[in-house]
Amino acid sequence: MEYICGKRTAQMDGLTLAAHLVARLTGAGEIVLDLGTGDGRYVAEQARRNQANFYIGLDACRENLVEISRKAPANSLFLIASGENLPGELTGLIGSITLNFPWGSLLEGLLESVSEVMTGLRMVARPGAKLELRLNESALRMSGRSLETGREQVISALEGAGFAVEMVELLEVTGLKKFPSSWARRLASGREGQVLQIRAFYIPVPEPVTPPAGEMVLTGAAPL
Ligand SMILES: C[S@@+](CC[C@H](N)C(=O)[O-])C[C@H]1O[C@@H](n2cnc3c(N)ncnc32)[C@H](O)[C@@H]1O
Repeated sequence: MEYICGKRTAQMDGLTLAAHLVARLTGAGEIVLDLGTGDGRYVAEQARRNQANFYIGLDACRENLVEISRKAPANSLFLIASGENLPGELTGLIGSITLNFPWGSLLEGLLESVSEVMTGLRMVARPGAKLELRLNESALRMSGRSLETGREQVISALEGAGFAVEMVELLEVTGLKKFPSSWARRLASGREGQVLQIRAFYIPVPEPVTPPAGEMVLTGAAPL
């Protein structure tokens, strides 16, 4: 997977990532993935506030990450990847996923239960992982949906992909002003409409066991 540190980008394999995590993750800490991290401000702030956790900010756009990744806290890492093709090195590692104000293809992928984005989320999430999604009305409108339609669609998509939705609420302007991401500041003006906050937990459904070919399958008593 490709990580960024200032203007320099390089590949990191699973073993090197594991070494980083062992060195930085303490006690009850968890690994948090911020998908569509933008300029990474949310990740940097959270990493400073919660030293026990390890934060990974991921975005498809590298230019916005040059500045923050240069002086990133030691318990954080910034990756360049698309939400449709999450790095395999993150498989089963993530205890908490945040998606703050996604737009474009990332948003589209969250509106369908069968999508590359949902497949990636299921791949990286640990069983029981928390997912927090903040959805803004202006992004939904740009995708041709109202807040209400988007709300219904995203809840159904998450549930269909194995994320049990526990809470849906409006994020008020005061909450947006305090929220530590650059996009939240912009939305706090209120001109871009309302913001929905959704919390869900990943409850993987056990895969059905397929008996090996040729093995007898008992389907109950045969009719007399
Ligand atoms: C509105 S910005 C929000 C940025 C940040 N979360 C914040 O709160 O400031 C949406 C971000 O999603 C990213 N994005 C959109 N589609 C993506 C995709 N398919 N994969 C990864 N990132 C994507 C964009 O590059 C952009 O940085």
